[in-house]
Amino acid sequence: MKIGVIGTGYVGLVTAVCLADLGHKVAGTDVIPEKIDKASRGIAHIYEPGLEDLLRKNLKKGNLSFIHDLAKTIQSSDVLFVSVNTPQREDGSADMTYVEGVSRKIADNLNSYKLIVEKSTVPVKTSNWIKRTISLHKKKEVDFDVASNPEFLREGSAVSDFLNPDRIIIGVETERARDILLSIYRKFKNKILVTNIDTAELIKHASNSFLALKISYINLISDLCEKTDADIELVSKGMGLDPRIGSHFLRAGVGYGGSCFPKDIKALARIGEDFGVDVNLLKEAERINLRRSELFLEKIKKALWILKDKKVAILGLSFKPQTDDIREAPSIKIIRKLLEEGSELRLYDPKAVENMRKIFPEKPPQIFYAKSSSEAIKGANALLIITEWEEFKKLDLKKVKKLMANPIIVDGRNIFEPSQVKSLGFEYYPTGRK
Ligand code: NAD
Ligand code: UGA
Repeated sequence: MKIGVIGTGYVGLVTAVCLADLGHKVAGTDVIPEKIDKASRGIAHIYEPGLEDLLRKNLKKGNLSFIHDLAKTIQSSDVLFVSVNTPQREDGSADMTYVEGVSRKIADNLNSYKLIVEKSTVPVKTSNWIKRTISLHKKKEVDFDVASNPEFLREGSAVSDFLNPDRIIIGVETERARDILLSIYRKFKNKILVTNIDTAELIKHASNSFLALKISYINLISDLCEKTDADIELVSKGMGLDPRIGSHFLRAGVGYGGSCFPKDIKALARIGEDFGVDVNLLKEAERINLRRSELFLEKIKKALWILKDKKVAILGLSFKPQTDDIREAPSIKIIRKLLEEGSELRLYDPKAVENMRKIFPEKPPQIFYAKSSSEAIKGANALLIITEWEEFKKLDLKKVKKLMANPIIVDGRNIFEPSQVKSLGFEYYPTGRK
C-alpha cells in the first residue's frame, strides 16, 4: 500500500517520517517547494527532537520520498493523509479553504480507489463536505472513502508521541476504510478506537478544548492564590493526586498558546453555535486565557513602576519548550505591550529566535536578540521567564544576580523555588504563589 501525505508542515512531516518508520512506503508533498527540497535532502524545516535522524534513516532505506507534484502524489497513492493547515478565520471558525483545495485536486486526479484520511483538525461534519466535493468534481467513476484519523501529537515531543500513542482514533463508515487503517496502525492494535466519522472529528476538538479549559481553570485558581496565602504549585499537586482529575495540564502561567488550542477552542465554539448549542463555557476559558498576558504585564509594572527605557530581559519566546514554533506564543503579546510602553528588550530563546526576528526585526536598543541567557540578562532591570526551557531552570542565580542591574525576576512559569531565589536577594514575582 502506498501512502501519500499532503501538506508536510509540523504534522505532515512527522506523519510521513513516522509512517515510513513503521515500514510503509510514503511520499510527502507540499505547496511550499523549499519544504520538499529540504526534506528530500534529509533536513527538517522545523525543530523537533529526533525528527531529522528518523527522516534521514528512512530516506536512506528508500521507503520515504518527497515530491513537488501533488497530482502525481495523488495518482500514485492508495491512501492519502491530508495534513494541510486549517487556520482560524476572523469569525473564529476553521478555514477549510486548503482542505477544499486538496479535495478538488483529489477529484481531478482520482484514477483508482483511494482512502482519503483527514489528519488535519477539522470541524465535525467536514467529511461530508470532502465526499461531496470529490463526488461533484471527479473525472472518473472510481470509488473512494473518507476517514478521520485525528492527530494528538504535541510539538516538542511529536516523534515520540506519534510512535508511542495513548490512543489512535479511527473514524470510518466502510469496512474497507476500517481495514486499511487497522492495517496501517497494526503495531498499535491495542490502542485503537474505531468510531463513526463525526465522533472521530469531534474527539479531536473536544480533547484540545478540554485541555485548554483545564489550563484556564488552573489559571483562575492561580489568581485566587495570589490574593491569599495559598500556593498554586501545591494546589495543583493536591488536585492532581486525585486520579479523577489527573496531574497533567495543571501548570499555571502566562496562558496557553500554540497553533492549536487558541484556534481549536474557538472553532469548537463556532460549531456549537452553528448547531444551536450553548458554548459559553468555552468562551469563558478563552477570555481567561486572553487576560493572562495583561495580568503578567501588571505584575511587571508592579515590579518596575515605569516601563519606559527599562531594560527587560526575556527568556523564552517559543509557545512552549522544545520547539521553535512561536505561533500564538504568549511572548508575542507581552513583547508587543512592552514595546508600546517603551521598554528596551533583550530577548533569548534556544530555538525560536529566527522565527521571532520575522515578527520583531532586530532594532537595538528597543529589540536586541542575545545569543545566550547571560547576554540577555546583562544590565537588565528585570528578567522575565515566559517559556520554561530546561536550560533556564539550571541558571546559576548567583551569576544572574551579578549580571543584572536590578535583581528582579517575574516568572510566568514558576521555574524557580521562591525561598531559594529570595534568599539570594532577588525580588521575585512568581505565578500564583509568593
Ligand atoms: P502547518 O502550517 O505547519 O502545515 C500545513 C502544511 O500544509 C504547510 O506546509 C502548507 O504549505 C501545506 N499545504 C497547504 N495547502 C496545501 C496543498 N493544497 N497541497 C499541499 N500542501 C499544502 O500546520 P500543522 O501545524 O502541521 O497543522 C496541520 C493540521 O494539523 C491543522 O489542522 C492542525 O490543527 C492539526 N494539528 C496540528 C498539531 C501541531 O502540533 N502542530 C497537532 C495535531 C493536529
Ligand atoms: C496540543 C495538545 O497537547 C496535543 O495533544 C494536540 O495534538 C496539539 O495541541 C494540536 O492539536 O496541535 P501542543 O500545542 O503542541 O499540543 O502543546 P501543549 O503541550 O499541549 O501546550 C499547549 C500550550 O498550553 C502551551 O502554550 C503550554 O505552555 C500551555 N500549557 C500546557 C500550560 O499553560 N499549562 C499546562 O499545564 C500545560
